[in-house]
Amino acid sequence: MTDLPVRLDTIFAEVKKARQALGPGRVLDVGSDHGLLSLKCLEEDAASYVICTDINPDPASKSRLLLKQNGFSDRSEVIVTDGLNGVKILPGDIIVIAGMGGLNIIDILTRALDGLDDNLKSNISLILQPQKSMHLVRNYLDKNSFGFEDETVCKDRDIFYNVLRMRYKGRSEGLSLRQLYYGPVNLTRTDSLTLEYIKHLDDVFRIRSRGSEEIRQMLQGDQDAD
Ligand SMILES: C[S@@+](CC[C@H](N)C(=O)[O-])C[C@H]1O[C@@H](n2cnc3c(N)ncnc32)[C@H](O)[C@@H]1O
Repeated sequence: MTDLPVRLDTIFAEVKKARQALGPGRVLDVGSDHGLLSLKCLEEDAASYVICTDINPDPASKSRLLLKQNGFSDRSEVIVTDGLNGVKILPGDIIVIAGMGGLNIIDILTRALDGLDDNLKSNISLILQPQKSMHLVRNYLDKNSFGFEDETVCKDRDIFYNVLRMRYKGRSEGLSLRQLYYGPVNLTRTDSLTLEYIKHLDDVFRIRSRGSEEIRQMLQGDQDAD
């Protein structure tokens, strides 16, 4: 079985949880690059079939080769495309978008979800690991009626990552600024790694507040609540 680095292993753990909830189905690995996550999903039957997409031909070739070398050509497809352009979303699909900027993720989701009916949206899961602009991704998801099933923190080579697992709920929660910036689930957690992450975000936002009225407001809201 393939060993994954901590960040990808955390994403894989969320794929498994999503799969348990959804039942059998495919994994759509958007921006698959090396293809390691897709390989693991096939090895461990977290996916009946995977579609890897990558906007660049070279990473797509890496994914294709890895899946072929491991005997999974008949349960996989690798497509050079922008996001999920040209991919028909089906019930049971788990869409993974990891290791990309938040704005890119929002752009990909906006196009992919456009025109999907509520029933189909309720029967898919999103696993997202934005590299930045987390608050914008959370805001987009909340505004588009996706609920936070989980937010998991991991630390890989001394860098924090936050992985979101989302399902369509048909209504927006109307998240506060603090929830958008820190994560609604993260804020409820008491494990040491999440607390360390929140403390790290406190430091980051204190510095960023010098150049951002919104972050100043978010931190001020905290003080008012104290
Ligand atoms: C940093 S790698 C992350 C790879 C993998 N998802 C992971 O988390 O380890 C980002 C990959 O996404 C691809 N990519 C960037 N924008 C994309 C888009 N709009 N559609 C598809 N692939 C994209 C890049 O070519 C690259 O291979």
